[in-house]
Parts: sequence; structure tokens; C-alpha cells
Amino acid sequence: VRVEWNKEQAEKEGFQHYMLKEIYEQPRALKSTMAGHLDEAAGKVTFPGLRLTAEELKEIDKIFIVACGTAYYAGLVGRYAIERLTQIPVDVDVASEFRYQRPLVTAKTLTIVVSQSGETADTLAALREAKRLGSKVLAITNVVGSTIAREADDVIATIAGPEIAVASTKAYTAQLMAFYLFGLYLAQEKQTIDPQEHATLIAALKNVPEQVEKVLENADDLRTFAEGIKDEKSVFFIGRGIDFAVSLEGSLKLKEISYIHSEAYAAGELKHGTLALIEEGTQVIALSTQAELHEKMISNITEVKARGAKVLGITPDSHIELHRTVDELCFIPTTAPLFTPILSVVPLQLIAYYTSLALGNDVDRPRNLAKSVTVE
Ligand code: G6P
Repeated sequence: VRVEWNKEQAEKEGFQHYMLKEIYEQPRALKSTMAGHLDEAAGKVTFPGLRLTAEELKEIDKIFIVACGTAYYAGLVGRYAIERLTQIPVDVDVASEFRYQRPLVTAKTLTIVVSQSGETADTLAALREAKRLGSKVLAITNVVGSTIAREADDVIATIAGPEIAVASTKAYTAQLMAFYLFGLYLAQEKQTIDPQEHATLIAALKNVPEQVEKVLENADDLRTFAEGIKDEKSVFFIGRGIDFAVSLEGSLKLKEISYIHSEAYAAGELKHGTLALIEEGTQVIALSTQAELHEKMISNITEVKARGAKVLGITPDSHIELHRTVDELCFIPTTAPLFTPILSVVPLQLIAYYTSLALGNDVDRPRNLAKSVTVE
């Protein structure tokens, strides 16, 4: 018997597209990225390869996170994590802006550049500028032999494996994992966190990869939802705080591969002008994962519902009361509030994927986008 064999099909391991395969690889990518960093028995995070010394870490009084595209959106979550855990002020900038805005960088600044490929020209230029200004540079990258990895003072490797689909998925969640690990490490070294809380967070983080598996079990429902929105002319994503950061990434994913116009809004900002864009039947995807912001989110959802929006809510299974306000609900497992982005982004990735699929688009190779942009 002659079996037709095609290298690309073999690499996709039975998945129709690389993007879907990579979405499903996330539990493994997350486990690999945290492997060797969590000492649960001692309640500690370790970074054996880090060249930054404990003294240098203690000196840091400001952090810049610089990146492009999806990596930039990972940086927005990174800011919340680092500020919450360490109380060090963090600024996040897109690399092509950072370079020309005369950033206030000193020898006590740590610049964290984030790049899946490690070859993005804008990010590399920002890295060089930060170094020239005297900052230490830490790179979070998926390619350890890349130019960015070589030129940075230190590297945290995301171990997501090669990412082929242009739309980034597993690299993004692995970048979030890298930020959580580094944030917890910095908090431990600078003693900005109560040891009990630190231990609780480590235990919660260890659980996250398995919780991603649970989210993936909802794929069929999300496929049905995606098929229902494929003819929309516009889709809005709303959230507050860390959920706003994830909304930006979810909106980008949808735009990148479905070409449906989409915007992400800080939920409380809609009423300052843009609420007029919500019309009868407009699809809104509302993220509400933070207990302390839940009431505020419910009032923002009520505002868009009053204008005729259809709302899909994404919320932890402990926030069941959202049921009364939205049209449809997608539950994610409950974790520490800081770690919800790794879980809440997965439904958004699946929605983008299945919408693109339903439209018959070339999911893995969307138009006008390159996997890695090596010109400034
Ligand atoms: C390109 C890709 C994006 C990616 C960005 C940054 O524009 O289309 O998906 O997020 O570059 O890439 P990097 O490799 O630096 O993470």
C-alpha cells in the first residue's frame, strides 16, 4: 500500500492547521516553560541560569517592558503581575515607540524585551537603545539562539517549541508564564511578598497547565459561537485591568485572521464616547475574571445590553451570577486572580480560529502579516 506522505501534514499531527495544533500544545508549553523553576517543597522560585545577581535585582527601581504585537500584549499582563508582586513601577511600550521617546532609563532600570522569534527589528533596536542608555536587558524569547537572546544580558526562555502559525498563541501564554515566574522570583528576592501568599501562588501556578486542558474541552461550544459571529461587521471586547490586557490580545487575534473589524476597550471607557458604536445586535465579548471588579463589569455589560448588544461573558466558574446579565457564558476554571489571563485568552484564541475557519480564510498565513518582521 502506498501512503501519501506530506511533511506539512505530518508536522500538523492530525490538526487541520498549525494554529489549532499550537493552541492545543499550550498545556505542554506552559509545563515546559515552568519546569525547573518551581520548588514547591521549599515554596521557592529558582532561576539557575540568570546572570543578574541578587544585588543587582535588589537595586532595580524601575522596569520597562518593550515588545511588538502579541508580545507587547503579553507585556501588558506582565506589568500587572510585576507591579502587584514587587511594587516596582513598570512601563510598557511598543518597541517602535520606545526607541524614539527618549526613555527615562538609568543603570537601575531593568528593560525586559519580549520576542517570540528573537529577531524582530524594532525590538532589537529598542534593546540596543536600552543598553546604550545603561539599562540591563533581560530577554523573554522562544528562540535561544536568536539575535535578541545573544545581545541581551540575560534570557528567560519560553519553551513553547517552534510556532509556525503567524497568529501567536502558545508563545503568548508561555510569555505570560515567564512573567509570572520572574515576578514571583523578584518578589521573593526583594521580599515584597508574604511567604504564605508566595507559596499559595506557586501552588496555583503549577495547576494552570491542567486548567488550560479544561478550557480546551469547551472548544465545540466556542466553534458554534464563532460560526454565529462570522458575518458580523464589528466585534467589541471589553474588560477591566488585567482583563483589558487580555481583551486587546483577543481582539488582535480575531482581526489578524478573520479580518472582522474589532476593538478592545477598557470597559469603563466605553461610555466616554465609543458607546455610540454599540448598536442593535453588535457582538460584545466581556471578560470578568476579577472578583473586585465584577460589579463594575456587570454595570458595563448592562450599558451595552441596553443598546441592543449581544454579550458573551467569560468568567471563572465561581462567578456564576454573571448569568443574569449576559446572553451566553463561557466558564474558565478558578485560579489566583493574577493568573486568569492564561485561562481567559484560550477561548478568545479558539473564537478567532473558528471564525477564520468558518470564513474559509487561510488561517495559518493571514494576508499582509509576517511571522517575524526584520525591518524597522
Ligand atoms: C509580527 C507578527 C506578530 C508578532 C510580532 C512580534 O508582527 O505578525 O504576530 O506578535 O511580529 O513578533 P516577535 O517574534 O518579536 O514576538
